[in-house]
Amino acid sequence: MDKVVECMVSEPFYDPAKSYQDNFEHGPFGLFADTQPHSLPASIAHRFLGLPVELPFGIPAGPLLNGRYVKAALDMGFSVPVYKTVRTRRYACHPWPNVLAVRVDGDLKPGRRLVASEDYSEPISITNSFGVPSYDPDFWQPDMADAAAHALPGQMVVGSFQGTLPESGSVEEYIADFRLGARLVKETGVAAVEVNLSCPNEGTAHLLCFDTARSRRVVEAIQEELDGVPLVIKTAYFDEDARLEAFLREVGPVVQGIAAINTISAEIVDERGEQALPGEGRLRSGVCGAAVQWAGLAMAARLKRLRAALGLSFEIVGVGGVHDAAGFAAYRAAGADAVMSATGAMWNPRLALEVLAGTAAQAVSPAMQAVGA
Ligand SMILES: Cc1cc2nc3c(=O)[nH]c(=O)nc-3n(C[C@H](O)[C@H](O)[C@H](O)COP(=O)(O)O)c2cc1C
Repeated sequence: MDKVVECMVSEPFYDPAKSYQDNFEHGPFGLFADTQPHSLPASIAHRFLGLPVELPFGIPAGPLLNGRYVKAALDMGFSVPVYKTVRTRRYACHPWPNVLAVRVDGDLKPGRRLVASEDYSEPISITNSFGVPSYDPDFWQPDMADAAAHALPGQMVVGSFQGTLPESGSVEEYIADFRLGARLVKETGVAAVEVNLSCPNEGTAHLLCFDTARSRRVVEAIQEELDGVPLVIKTAYFDEDARLEAFLREVGPVVQGIAAINTISAEIVDERGEQALPGEGRLRSGVCGAAVQWAGLAMAARLKRLRAALGLSFEIVGVGGVHDAAGFAAYRAAGADAVMSATGAMWNPRLALEVLAGTAAQAVSPAMQAVGA
């Protein structure tokens, strides 16, 4: 068995067979359970959001549930881990199961029906359905601060958050909640703040990032709190160029980074064709992993092209379906300034070390050739 295959069947650091709570309290698992500090890089050749990074590679918002997970990711060589999206108040998780494997032939296009299973074999695609749970800031602020302080030179921790619609349904209060969330995350000392705009636009049937005017208001409110700490927005896959361009014209000038994509929605059923995830509103669920790589790559290329066409300067974070060093390289070639892997990293905790080894070999090879090695 070669090394990569061996890595891909690793015990995942988040165990889908356990509840979110069990994972939160007892994880991370597998190789993330008992890590040693990452060695200091000999040189730091990259920058991301104006900061030096050893490798522009990380784990996006989601699988790193709390500070223990973030610290393990740093130890395992992920230079840019993102602490899972938090809220300004406690918020319950959807019932178990929260992660299931899905069978997809090739690329997942929007609007499909998929059969779920517990067969996590390559190429892994999953659905994840948590409902963005959160602890109170009293818990997550010190925990996030502790994780941020674990970063070595060449590493940076990003804190992700999103707003919650108040019971009154007031849009003004909804935007005020984003403002408060930004302040609370910034206070932890993270190197950058990420806001999830690929969440439901509370009070409507659409995602927030598909409401350009409201996204702009949200981002402007957040920026008033950040005092120069870089802001990344997380967006979904946009299927129309014109819509993406309209969004970037309004929101692009006000942010330092755009991370895309989040999951692609599909109907998830069991072998009998019945809803696989229990509970109301869970027939449709987001899919991530290998089957969405095409969409993440397409977004990275379109963001690069539109950034140039519109004279903007945000940095691009390519996310979706990266599960090996070739996926990292493909995103960089498509225009991503940094790349992140959620599903791939969950089942291959050595992924950053493999990407590092690959980039080190590339950096060495011209010199080796010069000396005739
Ligand atoms: C277990 C899990 C939990 C996630 N939770 C969040 C979240 O809280 N906030 C968010 O913006 N994205 C979340 N995501 C989406 C990822 O950040 C990412 O956009 C998506 O999974 C595509 O990347 P991948 O194909 O590498 O998994 C989650 C993904 C996974 C797998």
